[in-house]
Amino acid sequence: PRVHALVPAAGAGSRFGAEVPKQYLAVAGKAVIEHAVGVLASHPAVEGVTVTLAPDDDYFVGLALGADPTIGVVAGGATRAESVLNGLAYIRDQHDAEWVLVHDAARPGLDHAAIDRLLEAGLSSPDGALLALPIRDTLKRADADGCVAATVDREDLWAAQTPQLFPVQGLLDALQAQLDAGETPTDEAQAMERAGARPRLVMGSGMNLKVTWPEDLLAVRAWLGAGAD
Ligand code: C5P
Repeated sequence: PRVHALVPAAGAGSRFGAEVPKQYLAVAGKAVIEHAVGVLASHPAVEGVTVTLAPDDDYFVGLALGADPTIGVVAGGATRAESVLNGLAYIRDQHDAEWVLVHDAARPGLDHAAIDRLLEAGLSSPDGALLALPIRDTLKRADADGCVAATVDREDLWAAQTPQLFPVQGLLDALQAQLDAGETPTDEAQAMERAGARPRLVMGSGMNLKVTWPEDLLAVRAWLGAGAD
Protein backbone atom coordinates (compact mmCIF):
# COMPACT_ATOMS: atom_id res chain seq x y z
CA PRO A 1 0.00 0.00 0.00
CA ARG A 2 1.14 3.53 -0.74
CA VAL A 3 1.76 5.55 2.40
CA HIS A 4 2.40 9.30 2.49
CA ALA A 5 3.22 11.34 5.61
CA LEU A 6 1.61 14.65 6.55
CA VAL A 7 3.22 16.91 9.16
CA PRO A 8 0.98 19.78 10.31
CA ALA A 9 3.30 22.59 11.40
CA ALA A 10 1.09 25.65 11.16
CA GLY A 11 0.66 26.16 14.90
CA ALA A 12 1.97 29.16 16.81
CA GLY A 13 2.93 27.07 19.84
CA SER A 14 1.52 29.65 22.23
CA ARG A 15 1.63 27.43 25.33
CA PHE A 16 5.38 27.09 25.04
CA GLY A 17 5.91 30.84 25.38
CA ALA A 18 9.01 31.15 23.18
CA GLU A 19 9.25 33.77 20.42
CA VAL A 20 10.09 31.08 17.87
CA PRO A 21 7.26 28.56 17.29
CA LYS A 22 8.19 25.34 19.11
CA GLN A 23 8.60 23.31 15.91
CA TYR A 24 11.56 25.56 15.02
CA LEU A 25 13.45 25.34 18.32
CA ALA A 26 16.87 23.67 18.08
CA VAL A 27 17.45 20.12 19.29
CA ALA A 28 20.80 18.42 18.67
CA GLY A 29 21.77 20.72 15.83
CA LYS A 30 18.47 20.63 13.95
CA ALA A 31 15.03 22.19 14.30
CA VAL A 32 12.36 20.09 16.04
CA ILE A 33 10.43 19.77 12.74
CA GLU A 34 13.55 18.53 10.91
CA HIS A 35 13.78 15.60 13.29
CA ALA A 36 10.05 14.86 12.90
CA VAL A 37 10.14 15.01 9.08
CA GLY A 38 13.50 13.23 8.84
CA VAL A 39 12.34 10.13 10.72
CA LEU A 40 9.33 9.82 8.41
CA ALA A 41 11.18 10.60 5.16
CA SER A 42 13.86 8.01 5.92
CA HIS A 43 11.38 5.20 6.65
CA PRO A 44 11.34 2.73 3.73
CA ALA A 45 7.52 2.44 3.69
CA VAL A 46 6.93 6.21 3.46
CA GLU A 47 6.91 7.43 -0.15
CA GLY A 48 6.85 11.15 0.58
CA VAL A 49 6.27 13.86 3.20
CA THR A 50 4.09 16.98 2.99
CA VAL A 51 4.17 19.74 5.61
CA THR A 52 1.52 22.39 6.25
CA LEU A 53 2.84 25.80 7.25
CA ALA A 54 1.29 29.01 8.52
CA PRO A 55 0.89 31.38 5.55
CA ASP A 56 3.24 33.91 7.23
CA ASP A 57 5.87 31.33 8.24
CA ASP A 58 9.37 32.88 7.99
CA TYR A 59 11.31 30.00 9.47
CA PHE A 60 10.85 27.00 7.20
CA VAL A 61 12.69 28.48 4.17
CA GLY A 62 15.75 28.98 6.36
CA LEU A 63 16.08 25.28 7.16
CA ALA A 64 17.95 22.70 5.12
CA LEU A 65 14.54 21.01 4.89
CA GLY A 66 13.14 24.15 3.27
CA ALA A 67 15.39 23.58 0.24
CA ASP A 68 14.50 19.89 -0.11
CA PRO A 69 12.41 19.52 -3.30
CA THR A 70 11.03 16.15 -2.17
CA ILE A 71 9.15 17.75 0.75
CA GLY A 72 5.76 19.16 -0.29
CA VAL A 73 4.58 22.41 1.32
CA VAL A 74 0.92 23.43 1.72
CA ALA A 75 -0.65 26.39 3.55
CA GLY A 76 -2.21 25.45 6.89
CA GLY A 77 -5.46 26.69 8.42
CA ALA A 78 -6.71 28.34 11.59
CA THR A 79 -6.98 25.03 13.46
CA ARG A 80 -5.01 21.83 13.34
CA ALA A 81 -7.97 20.07 11.72
CA GLU A 82 -8.11 22.63 8.90
CA SER A 83 -4.36 22.37 8.40
CA VAL A 84 -4.63 18.59 8.10
CA LEU A 85 -7.58 18.91 5.72
CA ASN A 86 -5.58 21.19 3.40
CA GLY A 87 -2.69 18.77 3.47
CA LEU A 88 -4.90 15.76 2.75
CA ALA A 89 -6.47 17.41 -0.28
CA TYR A 90 -2.99 18.10 -1.63
CA ILE A 91 -1.81 14.54 -1.00
CA ARG A 92 -4.88 13.08 -2.68
CA ASP A 93 -4.58 15.31 -5.73
CA GLN A 94 -0.79 15.31 -6.17
CA HIS A 95 0.31 11.93 -4.89
CA ASP A 96 -2.63 9.55 -5.17
CA ALA A 97 -1.57 7.85 -1.91
CA GLU A 98 -4.01 5.46 -0.21
CA TRP A 99 -2.81 5.93 3.35
CA VAL A 100 -1.56 8.86 5.37
CA LEU A 101 0.55 9.02 8.51
CA VAL A 102 -0.30 12.32 10.24
CA HIS A 103 2.48 13.33 12.61
CA ASP A 104 2.92 16.45 14.79
CA ALA A 105 5.84 18.66 13.79
CA ALA A 106 6.43 19.10 17.51
CA ARG A 107 7.25 15.40 18.13
CA PRO A 108 10.95 15.01 17.24
CA GLY A 109 11.54 11.79 19.21
CA LEU A 110 9.67 9.38 16.92
CA ASP A 111 11.62 6.27 15.82
CA HIS A 112 11.30 3.71 13.02
CA ALA A 113 10.35 0.87 15.35
CA ALA A 114 7.24 2.78 16.47
CA ILE A 115 6.31 3.49 12.83
CA ASP A 116 6.74 -0.24 12.08
CA ARG A 117 4.37 -1.18 14.92
CA LEU A 118 1.81 1.32 13.67
CA LEU A 119 1.93 0.18 10.03
CA GLU A 120 1.74 -3.46 11.06
CA ALA A 121 -1.39 -2.87 13.13
CA GLY A 122 -3.12 -0.27 11.00
CA LEU A 123 -2.72 -1.09 7.33
CA SER A 124 -5.11 -4.04 7.50
CA SER A 125 -8.19 -2.07 8.58
CA PRO A 126 -9.95 0.99 7.13
CA ASP A 127 -10.41 2.13 10.74
CA GLY A 128 -6.65 2.80 10.99
CA ALA A 129 -4.50 3.07 14.09
CA LEU A 130 -2.61 5.52 16.27
CA LEU A 131 0.35 5.46 18.62
CA ALA A 132 -0.63 5.98 22.24
CA LEU A 133 0.67 5.30 25.75
CA PRO A 134 -1.23 3.86 28.71
CA ILE A 135 -1.78 6.59 31.32
CA ARG A 136 0.75 6.19 34.13
CA ASP A 137 -0.49 8.77 36.64
CA THR A 138 -3.64 8.58 38.74
CA LEU A 139 -6.11 11.02 37.21
CA LYS A 140 -8.20 13.55 39.12
CA ARG A 141 -11.18 15.50 37.84
CA ALA A 142 -11.20 19.06 39.25
CA ASP A 143 -14.22 20.99 40.46
CA ALA A 144 -14.67 24.74 39.93
CA ASP A 145 -12.61 25.52 43.06
CA GLY A 146 -9.62 23.50 41.93
CA CYS A 147 -10.33 20.71 44.41
CA VAL A 148 -10.68 17.02 43.60
CA ALA A 149 -14.18 16.17 42.45
CA ALA A 150 -13.38 12.58 41.49
CA THR A 151 -10.63 10.09 40.76
CA VAL A 152 -10.91 8.82 37.19
CA ASP A 153 -10.23 5.14 36.64
CA ARG A 154 -7.08 4.98 34.50
CA GLU A 155 -7.42 1.28 33.73
CA ASP A 156 -8.57 1.73 30.13
CA LEU A 157 -7.17 5.23 29.43
CA TRP A 158 -4.44 5.96 26.88
CA ALA A 159 -2.75 9.23 25.92
CA ALA A 160 -2.89 9.68 22.13
CA GLN A 161 0.34 10.36 20.26
CA THR A 162 1.14 10.64 16.58
CA PRO A 163 1.67 9.35 13.93
CA GLN A 164 -1.94 8.37 13.31
CA LEU A 165 -2.54 6.16 10.28
CA PHE A 166 -5.72 6.38 8.21
CA PRO A 167 -6.96 5.97 4.62
CA VAL A 168 -6.56 9.38 2.92
CA GLN A 169 -10.11 9.66 1.61
CA GLY A 170 -11.69 8.26 4.80
CA LEU A 171 -9.87 10.81 6.95
CA LEU A 172 -10.70 13.64 4.55
CA ASP A 173 -14.40 12.82 4.70
CA ALA A 174 -14.36 12.39 8.49
CA LEU A 175 -12.57 15.69 9.14
CA GLN A 176 -14.78 17.57 6.69
CA ALA A 177 -17.91 16.17 8.35
CA GLN A 178 -16.73 17.20 11.78
CA LEU A 179 -15.77 20.72 10.68
CA ASP A 180 -19.12 21.04 8.88
CA ALA A 181 -20.79 20.13 12.19
CA GLY A 182 -18.94 23.02 13.86
CA GLU A 183 -16.67 20.74 15.88
CA THR A 184 -12.88 20.98 16.12
CA PRO A 185 -11.19 17.62 16.75
CA THR A 186 -7.78 17.79 18.44
CA ASP A 187 -6.51 14.70 16.67
CA GLU A 188 -7.37 12.73 13.56
CA ALA A 189 -8.63 9.68 15.44
CA GLN A 190 -11.36 11.79 17.02
CA ALA A 191 -12.78 12.63 13.60
CA MET A 192 -12.61 8.97 12.55
CA GLU A 193 -14.34 7.91 15.79
CA ARG A 194 -17.16 10.36 15.14
CA ALA A 195 -17.54 8.81 11.71
CA GLY A 196 -18.01 5.40 13.33
CA ALA A 197 -14.48 3.97 13.04
CA ARG A 198 -12.65 2.07 15.80
CA PRO A 199 -8.97 2.95 15.34
CA ARG A 200 -6.50 0.51 16.92
CA LEU A 201 -4.32 1.72 19.80
CA VAL A 202 -0.65 0.86 19.23
CA MET A 203 2.04 1.16 21.89
CA GLY A 204 3.88 4.45 21.35
CA SER A 205 7.07 5.60 23.01
CA GLY A 206 7.91 7.83 25.94
CA MET A 207 10.48 9.58 23.75
CA ASN A 208 7.79 10.51 21.26
CA LEU A 209 6.49 13.35 23.42
CA LYS A 210 5.03 16.54 22.00
CA VAL A 211 7.17 19.56 22.81
CA THR A 212 4.59 21.63 24.67
CA TRP A 213 6.33 23.04 27.75
CA PRO A 214 9.95 24.23 28.15
CA GLU A 215 10.95 21.14 30.15
CA ASP A 216 9.93 18.96 27.20
CA LEU A 217 12.72 20.58 25.19
CA LEU A 218 15.24 19.61 27.84
CA ALA A 219 14.02 16.02 27.65
CA VAL A 220 14.22 15.70 23.86
CA ARG A 221 17.62 17.41 23.82
CA ALA A 222 18.89 14.83 26.28
CA TRP A 223 17.46 11.97 24.21
CA LEU A 224 18.48 13.20 20.77
CA GLY A 225 21.95 14.32 21.68
CA ALA A 226 22.75 16.86 24.36
CA GLY A 227 25.43 19.43 23.57
CA ALA A 228 25.07 19.21 19.80
CA ASP A 229 23.23 22.54 19.65
O1 C5P B 1 -1.05 23.02 19.37
P1 C5P B 1 -0.71 21.57 19.30
O2 C5P B 1 0.49 21.26 20.14
O3 C5P B 1 -1.85 20.65 19.52
O4 C5P B 1 -0.26 21.34 17.79
C1 C5P B 1 -0.03 20.04 17.28
C2 C5P B 1 0.48 20.15 15.85
O5 C5P B 1 -0.49 20.76 15.00
C3 C5P B 1 1.75 21.01 15.74
O6 C5P B 1 2.65 20.35 14.88
C4 C5P B 1 1.21 22.31 15.18
O7 C5P B 1 2.18 23.03 14.42
C5 C5P B 1 0.06 21.84 14.28
N1 C5P B 1 -0.96 22.89 14.02
C6 C5P B 1 -1.26 23.23 12.70
N2 C5P B 1 -2.19 24.22 12.43
C7 C5P B 1 -2.81 24.87 13.43
C8 C5P B 1 -2.53 24.53 14.79
C9 C5P B 1 -1.60 23.52 15.05
O8 C5P B 1 -0.70 22.67 11.76
N3 C5P B 1 -3.67 25.85 13.12
